[in-house]
Amino acid sequence: MEQNLEAQKNILGLQLPTDPRWVNLASMSLQDILTDHAYCEQKAATSCISIIQRYSDKELMVKELAPVVTEEWGHFRLVLQELHRRGLALGRQRKDEYVNRLIAFQQKGGAAEGRFLDELLTMALIEARSCERFKRLSEGLDDEYLRNFYRRFMESEAGHYALFIELAETYIDKTHVRQRWLQWLQHEAAIMQELTLRGDRIH
Ligand SMILES: [Fe+2]
Ligand SMILES: [Fe+2]
Repeated sequence: MEQNLEAQKNILGLQLPTDPRWVNLASMSLQDILTDHAYCEQKAATSCISIIQRYSDKELMVKELAPVVTEEWGHFRLVLQELHRRGLALGRQRKDEYVNRLIAFQQKGGAAEGRFLDELLTMALIEARSCERFKRLSEGLDDEYLRNFYRRFMESEAGHYALFIELAETYIDKTHVRQRWLQWLQHEAAIMQELTLRGDRIH
């Protein structure tokens, strides 16, 4: 719990808070929100598997991420169950411009350490923004059942955010991690602003 509180505080490091009106938009189209959410959880699970496969020599990280795969897949199942409970279909996966833009910012060539760090920070950022959105939903939706539903995700993603930062700091110099994290935060805010202005749905 203490870890969650700490993570929550750091999430305020996100440079651009979600527009409060987003909750109203979100509640108007619950199926879209649930479908996007379901695929986000799937991608979180597959991204963790991919990191484990590519960095199998980093034993501590493998050990820490293995249960996260199970958790994220569990999240996917919960969202799927929620869709079915409401008589809604999973639907198709939408192009995720937000994540694509984040991936475009990742260091492509150069030292392996920098590429590794960017992968972890991308994961941390996606977890932080998901957590922030779930927090808005858990506070702003009219339906009490859904507020509780999103609160559970919020807490879990806050823990994942903290884990990815911790892993980065385990393998890479902390000052360097902080410096690069600040660049990521600024870049993410610019993406959010641009996509919001364009009227894109983000998660
Ligand atoms: Fe999740
Ligand atoms: Fe997560």
